[in-house]
Amino acid sequence: MLDEVRRRLHPRRLRSTGRRAKQALRKAGLAPAGPVYGRLADAGRAVPIPPKARVLLSTVLLRRPGHITVPIDRLLLGAQGGWTAREFAERTDDLLWPSTRLIDGPHVDLLRRTDPSDEEILASPYGRLARRCIDAGGHYFGARDDAGIVAGARSLLSGEPRERRPQQSGRLDPILVAPIRGSDHYQVLDGHHRLAHAAVRGETTARVVTKWLPVTTPLQDLLLRMSWLDGTKELYQPIEAPELEQSWTTVRRCTDRLEKMTKLLAERGITGSYLDVASCYGWFVAEMGRTGLDAQGLERDPLAVPLGRATYGLREGQIGTGDAVELLAYSDRVYDVVSCFSLLHHFVLGRGSVGPEALVKLLDRATGKVLFLDTGQENEAWFRTSLEGWNAGTIADFLRRHTTFGEIIDLGPDDDARPPYADNYGRHLFACIRT
Ligand SMILES: C[S@@+](CC[C@H](N)C(=O)[O-])C[C@H]1O[C@@H](n2cnc3c(N)ncnc32)[C@H](O)[C@@H]1O
Repeated sequence: MLDEVRRRLHPRRLRSTGRRAKQALRKAGLAPAGPVYGRLADAGRAVPIPPKARVLLSTVLLRRPGHITVPIDRLLLGAQGGWTAREFAERTDDLLWPSTRLIDGPHVDLLRRTDPSDEEILASPYGRLARRCIDAGGHYFGARDDAGIVAGARSLLSGEPRERRPQQSGRLDPILVAPIRGSDHYQVLDGHHRLAHAAVRGETTARVVTKWLPVTTPLQDLLLRMSWLDGTKELYQPIEAPELEQSWTTVRRCTDRLEKMTKLLAERGITGSYLDVASCYGWFVAEMGRTGLDAQGLERDPLAVPLGRATYGLREGQIGTGDAVELLAYSDRVYDVVSCFSLLHHFVLGRGSVGPEALVKLLDRATGKVLFLDTGQENEAWFRTSLEGWNAGTIADFLRRHTTFGEIIDLGPDDDARPPYADNYGRHLFACIRT
C-alpha cells in the first residue's frame, strides 16, 4: 500500500497549493519568516525620528480623535516602567503580561486588599510588578527601593491616580489604549491605575482614547512564527488567552485523545515516564504531567519551548528541540509511555528524512509499555488522493508488521472533524501495548 502512496506522490502529481508554495518559499529562504505586520511595526519603531516629532506623531497623528467607550474586561495589561508592553514582557521574561486582563492584574488585586501591611504589599503582585521594573534596570513611578514601592502602593490605595499628568492646557492626559490586532481587546498604554479604580468601583466601561494602529502581543507573534502554523491564525493545541478568542481557531480539541489515553493507562495500571514526540508547544506534555507521569516533549520547532513554558507552565528543558528521527536514533532512553500524533503521515507522504517504517521502529524502541499514535488518513479531504488506502485497517496492519508490540488497539476516531475542518480529521487513535 505504501508503494502505491509513494507512486502517487511523484512530484508531477503533487498539487502545489498556495499554502504549500508559501511554505516552500520560506524554507528556501526566499520569503521572510514570521508575521509581516510585526516586522513592519518593528521597522517603524527603529526609524530615527527626532523626539519632538515622535511625541507629535504619537499624541496627535497616531491617535483617533475623541474618546471611545470600551468594556473594561476587554482591556489587557500594557506598558510599564517606561517600556512598551512587549519590552516589559521581554525584559522580565513574562510573555503573558500583555495577554492578561487588567481586571486580573496587579493594580486591581492591590485595590481589592483591605488595609495591607508593608510586607503584604511587597509580596503582592503589585509589589512584585514594581520590583520587576526596578530589577529590569528602571523604576516604578520613581520608586527604586522597597520603601518607594510601599509609598507608591499606599498612594494608589488612598485613591490618588498615579499616571495623571497635567498637560500644558491644564487638562488631564486621557487613558490611552491601542487595539490588539485580530482581536476585540485593547492594550492599555497609559492609565492602568485609573482603570483599576474604575473596575473596583464596579464600572464596566471606560472612556479612552485609542491609537489608530493595532499592536500585536508577544504570544500572537510567537504563534504566527511557529513553522507548523505557517502564519495562520490557528492553534493546533488549545491555548486560552483573551486576544486569541476572536480570530484564532483551535484546530485539535486534544481532550478526547487525552481521555482515551488516561482511561487505558488507568485500566492497565501504567505509570512512570512519558515522551510526546512532535509535541508542538506541549499541551499533552502538560496534561499527562498533571496525571502524575514524568512528562517530556520532543519538538522540531524551538518556539515550542517559550510557548510551552508561558502557556502551560512547563519546566525549563521539559521540551527538547530537534529532529525526532535524529534524537530518537541517538538516544537509548526508554519511556514507559510514548505518544506520536499526526507525524507519521508526513513520513508516508515522503516528507521525512526516513521512511514511515523507520520512524515507527524508532518509536517502538523508545517505548517501554505503550505507544499512542494517530496519523492523517484517507478519509480526510486534503488526503483523499495522496493517502488513498491509508485507513484505520491498513494503519493497524502497518503497525503490526513494523513494530514489536503484542497488542494493537484501535481506540476510535478523534472529535476534530468540525467546521472549519468538517471534512478533515476523524483520525483513529491507536494504543500499541507490550504484552
Ligand atoms: C501536525 S503537528 C502535531 C502536533 C502534536 N503532535 C499534536 O497532535 O497536537 C506536527 C508537529 O510535528 C512537528 N514536527 C514535524 N516534523 C518533525 C520532526 N522531524 N521532528 C520533530 N518534530 C517534528 C511540527 O513542528 C509540529 O509541531
